[in-house]
Amino acid sequence: MSDKKRIFSGVQPSGNLTLGNYLGALKNFSLLQDEYECLYCVVDLHSITVRQDPLLLKDRSYAVLALYLACGLDPDKNILFLQSQVSGHAELGWALGCYTYMGELNRMTQFKDKSRRHADNINGGLYTYPVLMAADILLYKSDMVPIGQDQKQHLELARNIAERFNNIYGDTFVIPEPFIPKTAARVMSLQEPDKKMSKSDDNANNFVTITEDPASIMKKFKKAVTDSESEVRFDEVNKPGISNLMNIYAAVKSISIEETAKEFENSRYGDFKMAVGNAVVDALTPIREKYNELMNDKGYLDSLFKKNALRAKEIAEPTLKEVYEKIGFIV
Ligand code: TRP
Repeated sequence: MSDKKRIFSGVQPSGNLTLGNYLGALKNFSLLQDEYECLYCVVDLHSITVRQDPLLLKDRSYAVLALYLACGLDPDKNILFLQSQVSGHAELGWALGCYTYMGELNRMTQFKDKSRRHADNINGGLYTYPVLMAADILLYKSDMVPIGQDQKQHLELARNIAERFNNIYGDTFVIPEPFIPKTAARVMSLQEPDKKMSKSDDNANNFVTITEDPASIMKKFKKAVTDSESEVRFDEVNKPGISNLMNIYAAVKSISIEETAKEFENSRYGDFKMAVGNAVVDALTPIREKYNELMNDKGYLDSLFKKNALRAKEIAEPTLKEVYEKIGFIV
């Protein structure tokens, strides 16, 4: 076994990943692949907590894998795999559910939020979703989990479940830490820059996806909200729209905010927005092309999923066995 720290990340195969996902996470993942042992899991089991069309679900699972590869993740250095192909997630999920209190699950804000949005389908899976997420992380004895603000509460629960189990049965699980990459950019909505750019936003002008066509990307940047001043200056409180665009430009160009401010100090908003749009298109074009190529080769994606499920199982199975043994199952 390697002595590298292990990173686990899960991504839902629902909807398209956005520029925010790219700049906040994916772009930096390839920088981690040498220093850490990284597992990236397409969490299809989680996705069925809301109703999914079967064909679309398959396609979206391939799409996440293709996107990760297109963003530069090396398929040998990272374990990119599909959750449903490693049965240990569901098995450990069941066991851990018996060490999780309803009181804890009742407090989860995402459950409350999703119940409101899917009032016609408040199912048991939606409720126990955080337990499965804890299983994902703990199954690999992950040291670190890159997550956004919205998943902090779930990670905290995973830590509590792990500690509880360790207290009863002795040291078993690693207590996972949140991992905030140093260079992660926080990309806000293009129309409402006080909220995060999100793929589930009802207004498509609020986000651009990683594989969006250039004309559409340009249109959205042209429309992006600014403010009533005329100076390209970084001020997140008074100029959230302009500051967001500066953040985006700096991140895609891998330069600092100061350099960005300098570059546009005499620019008009219209020209600045075009420059940001063009920079985004330039950054995303090779990714989109690679992605399209990969999506035309499902055979390859399939074989990669299968191969990586085996690699994941090599780590997962000993943990599950250890847990079963400790609980008192005959293994
Ligand atoms: N709940 C996460 C999300 O919606 C996805 C997820 C599932 C995850 N399992 C995970 C994230 C394990 C990190 C680690 O974004």
